[in-house]
Amino acid sequence: MSSDKKIILIGGGGHCKACIDVIETEGSWYIHGILDAADRIGQFVLDYPVIGTDDDIASYASQGFYFLITVGQVKYATVRQEIFEKAKKANALFATVYSPKAHVSKYATAGEGTIVMHYAHVGADVVIGRNCVINNHSNVDHDANVGSHCHISTGAVVNGACVIGDGSMVGSRAVLMQSVQIRHDVVVGAGSVVLKNIEESGIYAGYPLRKIE
Ligand SMILES: CC(C)(COP(=O)(O)OP(=O)(O)OC[C@H]1O[C@@H](n2cnc3c(N)ncnc32)[C@H](O)[C@@H]1OP(=O)(O)O)[C@@H](O)C(=O)NCCC(=O)NCCS
Repeated sequence: MSSDKKIILIGGGGHCKACIDVIETEGSWYIHGILDAADRIGQFVLDYPVIGTDDDIASYASQGFYFLITVGQVKYATVRQEIFEKAKKANALFATVYSPKAHVSKYATAGEGTIVMHYAHVGADVVIGRNCVINNHSNVDHDANVGSHCHISTGAVVNGACVIGDGSMVGSRAVLMQSVQIRHDVVVGAGSVVLKNIEESGIYAGYPLRKIE
């Protein structure tokens, strides 16, 4: 295993387990360990030890490790975004991981720190930013543009040519009509249907869609 394929995961909760499953299936990374809270050091997440906290990112970055943020996101992206920015200040490099069980078009691109999980579909001419989660069974269809620090949740459908701003989340099985544009820092609730552009950051849910925060 070459040294440039060693990865450290940041965040040791449930989403971390799902990421481990994808990384192991992809097969080209050696998972060195996990960074989490200080009182979890020495514990294991699946087969991997918690080896430090995010205060150790700079030290591991200087040793050539890559990183992936495996903190989950069920609303705003604040925590994942703050960790990403802290790590970039420490010169950390991030892995981009595609599950071999996903379809990612050869005409699509995704930025560093983004993971495309099992059975997702990423269509032609899709552009995905940095530090995103494209979760299991989601569909990001042709020509869509997903900003950085976004979570497209399990089974969500982002139809062709949609535009999603930085730090947004599309909940499980939510649907965005084709060409819909949503602003940065928008949360779309599970199962919601978005027919029109969302111009204001906040939390939206339901069908018909309403702003709940
Ligand atoms: C939208 C969401 C973030 C709102 O969470 P919240 O701010 O804690 O909101 P609450 O649970 O207090 O609900 C507020 C209101 O919105 C309604 N609501 C919440 N989520 C809704 C949804 N997905 N669809 C329709 N209505 C919803 C609630 O019924 C409640 O209505 P009321 O005021 O008439 O009683 C959350 O419900 C949600 O859907 N999260 C996405 C979860 C998900 O997809 N996880 C993926 C894991 S991979």
